[in-house]
Amino acid sequence: MNAKNGAADGAEEPHGSDYDRLPYPSLPIAYTQPGALAAMATLFGAAPADVSTASVLEIGCASGGNIVPLAVRFPHARFLGVDLSARHVAEANARIAALGLTNISVRQGDITSTQFEREAFDFIICHGVFSWVPRVAQDAILRICGESLRPAGVAAISYNVLPGWHTRRIVRDILLFHADPKASPADRVARARKALADIAGAAAGNSPYVSLLRSEAQRLAKAPSAYIMGEFLAEQNTPCYFSEFATRAAANGLTYLCDGEVATSLPDYFAPTISKRVRELAGESALGVQQYTDFFTGRPFRRSLLVPSAGAPKPMLALDPVRARHLHFSADLRRRAEPSKAGEAVYLDHRGRPIRPKGPVASAIVEGLARAYPGTCTLDELFHGTKLSDEAKALQILTLLLISEQATVSTVPLRVGRGDGACPRAWHLARLEAAARQPLVTGQHHAPVRLIAALAQLMPHLTGENDRAALMRLAANTTDSASQTLGTPDQALAQALSFAARHGLLEP
Ligand SMILES: C[S@@+](CC[C@H](N)C(=O)[O-])C[C@H]1O[C@@H](n2cnc3c(N)ncnc32)[C@H](O)[C@@H]1O
Repeated sequence: MNAKNGAADGAEEPHGSDYDRLPYPSLPIAYTQPGALAAMATLFGAAPADVSTASVLEIGCASGGNIVPLAVRFPHARFLGVDLSARHVAEANARIAALGLTNISVRQGDITSTQFEREAFDFIICHGVFSWVPRVAQDAILRICGESLRPAGVAAISYNVLPGWHTRRIVRDILLFHADPKASPADRVARARKALADIAGAAAGNSPYVSLLRSEAQRLAKAPSAYIMGEFLAEQNTPCYFSEFATRAAANGLTYLCDGEVATSLPDYFAPTISKRVRELAGESALGVQQYTDFFTGRPFRRSLLVPSAGAPKPMLALDPVRARHLHFSADLRRRAEPSKAGEAVYLDHRGRPIRPKGPVASAIVEGLARAYPGTCTLDELFHGTKLSDEAKALQILTLLLISEQATVSTVPLRVGRGDGACPRAWHLARLEAAARQPLVTGQHHAPVRLIAALAQLMPHLTGENDRAALMRLAANTTDSASQTLGTPDQALAQALSFAARHGLLEP
């Protein structure tokens, strides 16, 4: 399931890539879920395929941390992963075998020489690859998307963008200057971190340059080694302008639709203070608006969704809320213990921002979403059991939650367990990952979850066959054996189940 029981087990291949020697931590990436891509495509005017029976390709799938959980979640869809690294592919195949999956295959191959002659896909995912491979491989990614997407298909490609990435380029140059190409990737990363910390620590003054060094040194001190290796020390990192990406996509029969999230796809909302000026400069061109937004904001990274140009919808710079009518919303909202001064309920979003719903429609939406999280609700489900009927208002509120990054959306419902039944059962993928002592397990909402101690010990036993008394005994035993203070067994169980429920680890 992880590097420990993967085939390669730390062995280095004689001519292995850096990825073979410092594997990339392969994790679920929420925006790449076909349900999320299909919802974005729907909001921006396309009519994507039914996810439950879709055909999905992931280019550069590493050891399958993203694609394997999708294959578990959608047993009637088909998944194919391709990756250059033999070690990554061996690990992915070990995961697939351990889970007994028959709807997924992961093969080793170089994308530059891969053809999918008879295969066509409803969704193509290529995250964390495009900017980090040579030009010939970038061309191959766009060629494959152009040739192998079905007419209603959607491709998601992430990449570093200019001019924003220029500032990180300064740090990359400093780190590369200190890198010993003969050293192992781990040694190169350690040396790079130290060099940047030393320089940023000793630099004097508060010029924009010194501030950049300090903030990047702080950021990279906490960043995973594989990220530093991939972004700052790898041979390849070629950011490009959005306009160049869109032009190259167009040459392959692909049209930019939107980005991976609503907020950044709509510059009017993403950067409201400059949107008027952006519009003046870009004129009528929707792609120009995107490019000018990058000039104004300096964003360093994009996750762009592309669709076949034949039949592509017209670019949109505003959302029609009606398009959200049948979508499934999820929002990480919690009710704050104390109400507002006026006695109204106050909720906090995932960033701790307060939401004070005004009126019955907003209250029903916010309450319903908070209760269901990480499960999803449609408008009908939010209105169910109420006398509310103002759909237009509800859709407006729901799209505002999307625009303000307080909700996510999918074409697929998610139902999760609350841990309040007699014999709680964890999602079997996360249970196996926990049993294999993976540091991060996969939530059903397709996000990585770091388990708290109380739950890490209990997860393998949440099979749906152990009742609460049995789980409490297990909690008592494991608490003793681990010599950890997790409170009384019933406190440990309550804490574990509440965490598991909140992080989408329990089945309904
Ligand atoms: C930074 S990792 C990203 C992995 C994964 N998509 C993610 O975001 O977690 C880049 C992956 O692309 C793969 N890769 C690089 N060049 C490739 C090529 N020419 N053909 C296929 N895969 C390639 C690497 O082996 C590596 O697993």
